[in-house]
Amino acid sequence: MHHRIALLLSAALPLGFAQDTVSYDYDSYGENDPEGTPFQTFMSNGDVKPPQMHINSNQSGLAPGYVFLGIDGEPTSEQNFPTIFDMSEERMGTLVWTGNYTEPFDFRAQTYQGQPVLTFWSGDLLGGFGHGSYYVLNQSYMEVAHFSPVGFVNEGDIHEFVITSDDTALVPIYHPVPVDLTSVGGDSDAWIYESTFQEINIETGELVFQWNASTHVGFNESFNSLSDVGTEDSPWDFFHINSIEKDINGDFLVSARVMDCIYKISGDDGHIIWRLHGQQSDFDVEETAYFSRQHDARWVDEQQTRMTLFDNGPRDDVEYSRGLLLAVDQDAMTVRLIQEFTNEAQTFGQYEGSLQAINESDSNTNFFLGYGNQPFFAEFDSNGNILLDAQFGKTNVVNSYRAYKLPWQGKPLTKPDIHFDKDGNMVYFSWNGATDVEEWIVYTANSTNTTRWSNVTSARRTGFETTIDLSELELQTYIRGRAVNGTGGTLGWTRAGDGEQFYDAPDGDDSFTSSSTTSTSSMSSTSAVSPTGTDVTTTSTLGPATSSPGPAISPTGGAAVSVQGFVDVIVGVVVVVGVGIL
Ligand SMILES: *[C@@H]1O[C@H](CO)[C@@H](O)[C@H](O)[C@H]1NC(C)=O
Ligand SMILES: *[C@@H]1O[C@H](CO)[C@@H](O)[C@H](O)[C@H]1NC(C)=O
Ligand SMILES: *[C@@H]1O[C@H](CO)[C@@H](O)[C@H](O)[C@H]1NC(C)=O
Ligand SMILES: *[C@@H]1O[C@H](CO)[C@@H](O)[C@H](O)[C@H]1NC(C)=O
Ligand SMILES: *[C@@H]1O[C@H](CO)[C@@H](O)[C@H](O)[C@H]1NC(C)=O
Ligand SMILES: *[C@@H]1O[C@H](CO)[C@@H](O)[C@H](O)[C@H]1NC(C)=O
Ligand SMILES: *[C@@H]1O[C@H](CO)[C@@H](O)[C@H](O)[C@H]1NC(C)=O
Ligand SMILES: *[C@@H]1O[C@H](CO)[C@@H](O)[C@H](O)[C@H]1NC(C)=O
Ligand SMILES: *[C@@H]1O[C@H](CO)[C@@H](O)[C@H](O)[C@H]1NC(C)=O
Ligand SMILES: *[C@@H]1O[C@H](CO)[C@@H](O)[C@H](O)[C@H]1NC(C)=O
Repeated sequence: MHHRIALLLSAALPLGFAQDTVSYDYDSYGENDPEGTPFQTFMSNGDVKPPQMHINSNQSGLAPGYVFLGIDGEPTSEQNFPTIFDMSEERMGTLVWTGNYTEPFDFRAQTYQGQPVLTFWSGDLLGGFGHGSYYVLNQSYMEVAHFSPVGFVNEGDIHEFVITSDDTALVPIYHPVPVDLTSVGGDSDAWIYESTFQEINIETGELVFQWNASTHVGFNESFNSLSDVGTEDSPWDFFHINSIEKDINGDFLVSARVMDCIYKISGDDGHIIWRLHGQQSDFDVEETAYFSRQHDARWVDEQQTRMTLFDNGPRDDVEYSRGLLLAVDQDAMTVRLIQEFTNEAQTFGQYEGSLQAINESDSNTNFFLGYGNQPFFAEFDSNGNILLDAQFGKTNVVNSYRAYKLPWQGKPLTKPDIHFDKDGNMVYFSWNGATDVEEWIVYTANSTNTTRWSNVTSARRTGFETTIDLSELELQTYIRGRAVNGTGGTLGWTRAGDGEQFYDAPDGDDSFTSSSTTSTSSMSSTSAVSPTGTDVTTTSTLGPATSSPGPAISPTGGAAVSVQGFVDVIVGVVVVVGVGIL
């Protein structure tokens, strides 16, 4: 006994290193995956396969928050999932959460009914638009709302999902309608894709406001060619709505890609208050601020003096995309360029894309740029200096409609995951979506059904998965982990593993454990073997130990073969009577 405890104490130094794979060498990115796109895998969770992050450059001064990507395209992992990444200095490029919802668009954190929530569109992509519905998940990654546009079941479009301060949703719909296009040289019985947007009361499903582009906008304002389209089989996408925002006066700011124009729309009757840029601009736009095929038009300030957007381009002979911060004067009707934002490679994101003023109440805010159909994002200071320049997939293969940097706190209802490699003397811990874990503490015991778990070592969380070397430590039969937050509070316990299987084991509070520093001098022990009829769930060691049902990524599946059921086991329970045993 004395010997064992001495060993435990001498091995107190934790050995933790990241299992997460982050690349820093630009040229080698993807070289191990010549046929596919680089993605990460984990020992403790076989279901999660996020794209591998490549950091091209990284400076100090990054804003707090996590990076939100809706992975889309053709990743080799086949996981087109919403993902949250940690881009802090300590855990740069590591995964925080990914959920099992395919083709997510506009994935981000917003506020709904006073709670932080995750929101996104999911559904079927139909070439430039989509048919789907809108999801709202709470901090436990559980759905608290899921809805379609009013009158368009499962026909909500990909391009926008804003929750307003009134807990209404702003969402677009692309739907074919018959029109007369003779005014623009088309047929009298032609078809367009109407660009509609709705404001919907999320809780009641009530339609608050609806706007149809063709009612208010001239077909002659469109830059989209009518030549091969305009039929019922192939309607003309004359407007292409791609962002909607409601201002504090109740009016709307709408971006229409193929008009090269931002519209201000009256919240009273839908009439167009003004057009910014495009074929019949009401503003005098200085030439350096010209944009084309833009996305994501946002007011930065409530006074509506500054606007951000993603200028896809091309403009004349300039073939790179850029974020634009514009000074908009609605009295003088002028638009001036304040700042342009581009990454080092001056990427051309032909479609999709976003620019976010990260902290709108800070006049010196950082900006976050997402390159849409190309797998890049970047963060800048307010002068346009690049602070972070990252890539999350092969070009033309993986993309994210928008990219955001936002605060988030995730509190999954699952148990944390463990993989115990007994022969390799390694234990791996992860917990999909748990943002507050600062440390993993490793415990050992001779029974799964005991309240006496001894603390053997610990490690600071390194990323999604934390790997801890157990060699040099004297271990009892079972190993498990406790996830603790920055002040040592318990967030969760993993199941227990013996290297063969994983077992349910009771959770407890901090008094649940016995410290290995316990004096043993007065310890007298009697041992007894008691046959137990404990109900346990076993999981093959082919895969990770699985957690309880909860968030979107099913904790089972992947390589894990789980044998679920009630198994009678005989557990040798050593009853030790002594000081410090709780
Ligand atoms: C990011 O930059 C900081 C400051 O230069 C540096 O200490 C850190 O190692 C960098 N992190 C990564 C992941 O490159
Ligand atoms: C999320 O919703 C689930 C299901 O309604 C609920 O059990 C859980 O407590 C909620 N979590 C939070 C953080 O509100
Ligand atoms: C928009 O168009 C749809 C049909 O395409 C129509 O049902 C609806 O009344 C229109 N709404 C408005 C506000 O124009
Ligand atoms: C489109 O047609 C309307 C109505 O005839 C006209 O007022 C407007 O100037 C035209 N716009 C363009 C860009 O031709
Ligand atoms: C945003 O900026 C304001 C004003 O500078 C500041 O008070 C606030 O703390 C900032 N918020 C965050 C999350 O940094
Ligand atoms: C745990 O079991 C092993 C093997 O049976 C035994 O050597 C060890 O003393 C036990 N430890 C405790 C704390 O009972
Ligand atoms: C784990 O044990 C070490 C020494 O054995 C002790 O210093 C530390 O406080 C323990 N940690 C916890 C969380 O019990
Ligand atoms: C840590 O968790 C405990 C409860 O488990 C909680 O009381 C405490 O506020 C948490 N600390 C932090 C920094 O979140
Ligand atoms: C296992 O633990 C449960 C809950 O504490 C208890 O009811 C049961 O009797 C225990 N079984 C054995 C064999 O100790
Ligand atoms: C996602 O959910 C589907 C349907 O429930 C399931 O077949 C698939 O295995 C899940 N994928 C992951 C990675 O959990």
